[in-house]
Amino acid sequence: MPRAPLPPSVAFEAAENEGSNASRNPTLGDMVAARLSRRDLMQGLVAISVASEVLWPQALAAATPADAAGIAASPFDFVELAVAPASETHHVAEGYDADVLIRWGDAVLPGAPAFEPGKPDAAGQTKQFGYNNDFLGFIPLDGRSDHGLLVVNHEYTNGELMFPGLSPRSDKNADFAAVTREIVDAEMMAHGGAVLEVRREGGKWHVVPESKYARRITAETEMLISGPAAGHDRMKTSADPTGTRVRGMLNNCAGGITPWGTWLTCEENFNGYFWSKAASEPLTLEARALRRYGAPAEWYAWGRFHDRFDVLKEPNEPNRFGWVVEIDPFDPTSIPIKRTALGRFKHEGAGNIINADGRFVLYQGDDEAFDYVYRFVTDGKVDPDNRTVNRDLLDKGMLSVARFNADGTGEWLPLLHGAPNKDGQVWLTDANGFKDQGDVLIHTRLAADLLGATRMDRPEDIDVNPRTGKVYLALTNNTKRKEDRTDAANPRAGNAFGHIIEIVPHGGDHTADTFTWDILIQCGSPAIAEVGATFNAATTENGWFGMPDNFAVDADGRLWVTTDGNSPRRTGRADGVWAVETEGPRRGTSRCFFQVPVGAEMCGPCFTPDLETFFVAVQHPGETEIGGDVVSTFTAPTTRWPDFKDGVPPRPAIVAITRKGGGRIAG
Ligand code: FEO
Ligand code: CA
Ligand code: CA
Repeated sequence: MPRAPLPPSVAFEAAENEGSNASRNPTLGDMVAARLSRRDLMQGLVAISVASEVLWPQALAAATPADAAGIAASPFDFVELAVAPASETHHVAEGYDADVLIRWGDAVLPGAPAFEPGKPDAAGQTKQFGYNNDFLGFIPLDGRSDHGLLVVNHEYTNGELMFPGLSPRSDKNADFAAVTREIVDAEMMAHGGAVLEVRREGGKWHVVPESKYARRITAETEMLISGPAAGHDRMKTSADPTGTRVRGMLNNCAGGITPWGTWLTCEENFNGYFWSKAASEPLTLEARALRRYGAPAEWYAWGRFHDRFDVLKEPNEPNRFGWVVEIDPFDPTSIPIKRTALGRFKHEGAGNIINADGRFVLYQGDDEAFDYVYRFVTDGKVDPDNRTVNRDLLDKGMLSVARFNADGTGEWLPLLHGAPNKDGQVWLTDANGFKDQGDVLIHTRLAADLLGATRMDRPEDIDVNPRTGKVYLALTNNTKRKEDRTDAANPRAGNAFGHIIEIVPHGGDHTADTFTWDILIQCGSPAIAEVGATFNAATTENGWFGMPDNFAVDADGRLWVTTDGNSPRRTGRADGVWAVETEGPRRGTSRCFFQVPVGAEMCGPCFTPDLETFFVAVQHPGETEIGGDVVSTFTAPTTRWPDFKDGVPPRPAIVAITRKGGGRIAG
């Protein structure tokens, strides 16, 4: 019986959580799961209505104690959604519409064929909307909030939901026998990203057909490599002896929009696309580096048909992935550029701000258990009046990695070849495997290991609140952290539910060497003491969440959090959007605003400037839950969202949330 590939998300989670200790003690998540009965779980999987299927009865309590007592007004004005454990469809707070804007397979470019369920069509896919939409960025046209460009990442593919005959299983011996060349090529074309022109008319959003801006980026799109690692020996391949050109971007997760209107799209789990694990056996520096990045992980069959994804045949190809890519969405003929000065790791996003002195500052998380938080500061200043001046701003600057001290202070440690640290020690030297700055950037993780950076609980989004200058960091979870490896910034052993850290740059200067930090919320159920959750007591049973992943800070400076990994088994609720208060006596209060269908995670939160539209990305609806006992495939998916038609599989899609009758989201 041929084995299908491990579903990528299963592989991702396994890799992101592998850490250094493979033993599997019961976690807090397991304890919570044990409290949820099998009956509740099954009810949850078939639930359609929200209120009738709420797992915990206390979730129906409507008013928060603080509201009732009139202690402080919330900046969020909406009636909280009652959480559902799992539902075939999405749910939004009362008084709002949540409309599907575009689904996997819908037309992006002229000549796109109609979506045909179950049929791999690589050529058609290059003109259609890709799979697993993640980051969304709205760039207004003519300063408008009802007309703009929406840029979208297509992070990865779920072959078992896209095509028949691929049965998901967590089998490390998967041999990919059922995966054909046609499937591989369609998967490659469903990766990358999209640029859409979108317009709101009559209150409803639509994608402008035949737009001059429309674009699909795929795993084959020609890209340039710039910055200190461009042309480096470790970047050269047989197809590119110059080390300056690469085809495609992989596993683009979150991202950012620059003040000059470019799209930063971030390569995350690139290791999963490469073949030949044998290549990491001899302990050469190259093999050590591959291992440090978890490559080659063999999550996809691409290496069977495309030699560049086999590291025995093309050993440097993995070095050309794991970067931040800058794309000009206004010009569909522009060549995307991998900006190597920003470092190579499993990038989550690229939250950013113009510092008071005009320099551009980017914050970045490396999403793996025990990995790091980074900051990049440009040498040059942003010119707000001349876009072309900013064109190569991201090629020169200082990359640093964060150390969180136990006393609530922190430091940014520069990743600069040959430079002494504050104690006069020089770590990034030839003797330690770094011949030049290109090596430091290509092997960013190895360099950061030497500097004594703090090993975090899977850093996801890190975003700036431009109103306050405070920086928010999502640590999604890390069940492999043992008691003897906890620290002040990662204080929970077996951290199943993650936490959010607030960082305050010294003197409000985002280029300063130091900062202070605090934990905003330890996530998870406040009702289970062992979890150690620290939501504000004003948070209802609907309001708490686990596994914070992506952020949106809206134009009013309000923090919105989306999650990845909530489920009936883990938290008794689906993933979704929560509104989190960050200031005053209600700091740490959270409320549920939106929930995804079963199997999905919530990605891409993004507002129009007028706050009248909230775009969100529903990623991998119907995906098989890791550790769950319900298998979801093309022929028998757990949901057929959003079409709900026999024979049509679930389709990742963008949802536009607007207020019924118009007006700002949440007041
Ligand atoms: Fe693609 Fe870290 O989530
Ligand atoms: Ca994410
Ligand atoms: Ca995620």
